[in-house]
Amino acid sequence: MTLYNQSVLGDLDISPQQLKDILLLAIDMKATPEKYGDALKGKSIATLYEKPSLRTRVSFDVGINKLGGHAVYLDQQNGAMGKREDVADFGANLSCWCDAIVARVMSHATLTTLKSAASVPVVNSLCDLYHPCQALADYMTLQELFGEVKGLTLAYIGDGNNVTHSLMLAGAQLGVNLVVLTPEGYGVDEQIVQQATKIADENQCTVTVTNDVNALGNVDAIYADTWISMGDDKSLEQILGTFKPYQITKELMQSANAKYFMHCQPAHRDEEVTADVLDSEQSVILRQAENRMWAQNALLHSILVK
Ligand code: CP
Ligand code: NVA
Repeated sequence: MTLYNQSVLGDLDISPQQLKDILLLAIDMKATPEKYGDALKGKSIATLYEKPSLRTRVSFDVGINKLGGHAVYLDQQNGAMGKREDVADFGANLSCWCDAIVARVMSHATLTTLKSAASVPVVNSLCDLYHPCQALADYMTLQELFGEVKGLTLAYIGDGNNVTHSLMLAGAQLGVNLVVLTPEGYGVDEQIVQQATKIADENQCTVTVTNDVNALGNVDAIYADTWISMGDDKSLEQILGTFKPYQITKELMQSANAKYFMHCQPAHRDEEVTADVLDSEQSVILRQAENRMWAQNALLHSILVK
């Protein structure tokens, strides 16, 4: 099975073997970028944003340039998608000129509409449900740090969101044990728990979902994300009390024996993580940010190069 010409709207659009191949390719691209300088020569990729971005925008743009291709940045200033014209027409028109569409959207449904209207592959660069490019970069980071991801234990602590879902689905496929700790009422999607658990069973790893911070045993790394995702309507004042026990502190890192701290960023010091952890030697957030580019380049290479 190959990813050539395929869309990636969620983590399960990539098979376990393809995931492993992408991680190895990403590591090779990082080590020897000169080998891939012409890989996307003559290809243009639309990168479309309904939400703000720093890492995704720059890593796709610079990454596509490193592969010899051309990125076309589209924000919402020239007419919000679906308002000036239908999402489907947007996708169909982009396919007239571009070889792929990378899209960051409010709702997953927008991606499925784009995919059905477009004649070129569509890649999800964050939606309400998933952030597959982030998970690729995160597991690449763990692979670099530990040599292998299978058998590692990763704890995600905080709000159950798009990043959590992708870490669970990709992690279970790679044989990573996942511990997901969220406050009550802010948990992950039940259907995704079921999917990840089924995949984990097949891969001899586990998915543990709990509200109990004291249930955290020894882990290899602890991962946090913002307590308020883009598009969430909760206010910080409203949730501070509820989320405080889930803040990543030095004490929590020590009690879980965690070697590394991870965060997709943007990060908020002394909200989801204390400044002394975020800015410590254990924090690998900039390595994750850098790896966004290599992991995405490996994904684009798999999709666009025969
Ligand atoms: N982690 C991530 O996707 O960052 P941006 O929102 O800045 O793209
Ligand atoms: N969960 C966050 C991730 C940002 C990269 C959000 O959706 O805003």
